[in-house]
Amino acid sequence: MARPARQSLMSAPSTKRPRGHPRHALGRAAAALFLATLVALPFAVLYRAAVGRSLQDSWGWDSLPSVEASEEEGSEGDDLDSEDLKLERVLNKASMEDNTVILTTLNAAWASPGSVIDLFIDSFHSGVRTSSLLKHLVIVTFDWKAYEQCAKIHPYCFALGTEGVDFSDEKRFLTSGYLDMMWKRLDFLRSVLEKGYNFIFSDADIMWFRNPFPHFYPEADFQIACDHYVGNATDLRNIGNGGFNYVKSNERSIEFYSFWYLSRLRYPGYHDQDVFNVIKHDPYVADIGLKIKFLSTTYFGGFCEPSRDINKVCTMHANCCIGLRSKIHDLRIMMDDWRSYLSLPPNLKRLQTLAWRVPQNCRFSMVSRITHRINLDRCLVSIDANAIALT
Ligand SMILES: *[C@@H]1O[C@H](CO)[C@@H](O)[C@H](O)[C@H]1NC(C)=O
Repeated sequence: MARPARQSLMSAPSTKRPRGHPRHALGRAAAALFLATLVALPFAVLYRAAVGRSLQDSWGWDSLPSVEASEEEGSEGDDLDSEDLKLERVLNKASMEDNTVILTTLNAAWASPGSVIDLFIDSFHSGVRTSSLLKHLVIVTFDWKAYEQCAKIHPYCFALGTEGVDFSDEKRFLTSGYLDMMWKRLDFLRSVLEKGYNFIFSDADIMWFRNPFPHFYPEADFQIACDHYVGNATDLRNIGNGGFNYVKSNERSIEFYSFWYLSRLRYPGYHDQDVFNVIKHDPYVADIGLKIKFLSTTYFGGFCEPSRDINKVCTMHANCCIGLRSKIHDLRIMMDDWRSYLSLPPNLKRLQTLAWRVPQNCRFSMVSRITHRINLDRCLVSIDANAIALT
């Protein structure tokens, strides 16, 4: 497949479908869509029935998002353009000299006092040289309650418009409300790249213990933490986790985010992260020229694969964990572990015998999470293989 010309990459980055040789691309897309529909439809129907929302509800919401409120004042009567300007203003205020911001997203369930967002902010204060990074953090809120709570605890908040959809409840993993929220987040991140800002996106259930910048790869466009790391940063068999990534704004990353976001239509009912772990193999991603690096769980760990060396750990994610109560329970223990480590004298800190006491409540969901992932991977990879064979 020919690499698309520079100009076409930039002309309409938000709406374009990838294209290579027109006949092949069309045939392939049609075959992929057909097969994807064949395989996914029964699942989708079962799944929608299970979560009790009609197709129309979730698809009706699929229209383009708007940005609803500002970092400071209320949004009544503001039009889209001025809201866009407000996003630019908050990004501008929070960004580092090289136009990099740290972003996280928040809904009401994660915002209440003592909940995930408080632990997140606390981790920056108790991390090693991480508190100064807070001035580059923008908290993107999904609902009004989260916005109000954010405004109480942090200077840079941005309300992402939700057009009547209420994202404030706890979203159980893989319910349709959860999926809507995840895809909306991805589309928002694309818009940040289009504005020329690089970002570290971090889920709020990731504790920051050390500054991650020294462990990033200078030449990469897109770097992502892993649920499972195979020991080689360029190996596509690493299982990326969408909850933590560092992305440079350039034509390759913008095109990749557009492609990723569009791919939700090919794999209905799936999580952005699961779709990432399929499309990372797509030849189009190589055509774009996107330089991907997977981050080692030695530095960027989580409950799926904990960082084994507390002397090296930068971040720890409450991944492989379903349910807010379990998450908060284990995050608190993890923060306690970190504080006990910090209080040790230097000679004891270096001892390798230190281990996390987590996951505890989160442990049991790990199996189902990984099983789900493996099934999905198999299913989708075989769809892709068939699609290629048919063209
Ligand atoms: C890492 O993975 C890449 C891509 O799969 C491969 O080309 C390279 O040889 C691997 N490096 C090592 C040291 O195994």
